[in-house]
Amino acid sequence: MHTILITGGAGFIGSHVVRLFVTKYPQYRIVNLDALTYAGNLENLSDLDTAPNYFFEKGDITNPTQLAEIMQRFQPDGIIHLAAESHVDRSISNPLAFVETNVLGTVNLLNAARHIWGENLDGKRFYHVSTDEVYGSLGEEGYFTEETRYDPRSPYSASKAASDHFVRAYFHTFHLPVVISNCSNNYGPNHFPEKLIPLIINNIRQLKPLPIYGDGLYTRDWLWVKDHALAIDTIYHRGRSGETYNIGGNNEWTNIDLVTTLCDMLDELLGRTPGTSRQLITFVKDRPGHDRRYAIDASKLQNELGWKPTVTAETGFRETVQWYLDNEAWLEDVISGAYQTYYSGQYAP
Ligand code: NAD
Ligand code: DAU
Repeated sequence: MHTILITGGAGFIGSHVVRLFVTKYPQYRIVNLDALTYAGNLENLSDLDTAPNYFFEKGDITNPTQLAEIMQRFQPDGIIHLAAESHVDRSISNPLAFVETNVLGTVNLLNAARHIWGENLDGKRFYHVSTDEVYGSLGEEGYFTEETRYDPRSPYSASKAASDHFVRAYFHTFHLPVVISNCSNNYGPNHFPEKLIPLIINNIRQLKPLPIYGDGLYTRDWLWVKDHALAIDTIYHRGRSGETYNIGGNNEWTNIDLVTTLCDMLDELLGRTPGTSRQLITFVKDRPGHDRRYAIDASKLQNELGWKPTVTAETGFRETVQWYLDNEAWLEDVISGAYQTYYSGQYAP
């Protein structure tokens, strides 16, 4: 039986990847390894509780002994590595946590894969999920391709860049069969509300100020999270070893345009007077080292493997907003407790 270990499967993107693999491949055994940090939530996967091919292991990739024991027990043929500290603002207040999980944790996982697979690398795959932020910041023109020079500018992107380099080093030095993808900003259900889109939806819901960093003209390329999961499925099965694939939504928005769109959508869905939510928009101090623009050229993935986004921005944003309105209990649960302390520290006047 083909066994895949997915790290970070209780997080935002990981939970969509786990669900896709568990339901689409009943013949596979899917092991979700997650430390359940503040960002990990088993509620995201409660629908899989009775799936016979799904296993959850609470484990920390920074702990090599624990990792070795779990790998020994499950003997995975494939690893899809998503576990990470993922929020740029948190990386500015605590860079070391990002080095520990994103760099050290990834190297631990690479070592564990080498150890368990030895010389027998047939049918094995180490898939490292990374970000477009490793390429730095674009001006008004141009796109990131797989050949763009690395130029990380936040502690988060520096830690992801370092992990990408280690993954490639293990391919060249030890012939580990790796593949890497670098993806743009995801959105969709189960996104933790420290990130822009769910934070704005939550604040509109509560009629709280909508914090926009700087001039609001920073640009991101937004991808529906389920399309990212489909891209990961495609690359896991058909990507070439040693290669990198960029994944993007071809869907660029300035932050201010995106936020006003969400305002208008929520006014309509909540039956509020048009314009109510726009009045909550509040420009706040900028993120240090804020990257101006990200935009992905995903033509390699489209031309080689046939993947492209399936959802338009209008459909994806509307479904996302509706999901948060339909899942207020999920939102209330994750914004209680420690989230309050984070929020008041991050957005202190
Ligand atoms: P997330 O923060 O929502 O989830 C991260 C998950 O990793 C959580 O479940 C957490 O519990 C787990 N985790 C953290 N530290 C761990 C550790 N030491 N051991 C085991 N598990 C640990 O992140 P996300 O947004 O779902 O991102 C997943 C991956 O995709 C990350 O590698 C991120 O860099 C990458 N990525 C994210 C985006 C995006 O827009 N969110 C875009 C491109 C790439
Ligand atoms: O590009 C991929 C990356 O996208 C992933 O690798 C990261 O894990 C993910 O967090 C995301 O990073 P960003 O920094 O782009 O996402 P975030 O949602 O934090 O911010 C999106 C934009 O919105 C960015 O320009 C900063 C701005 N912003 C964010 C917050 C939280 C605001 O203006 N106000 C806010 O309160």
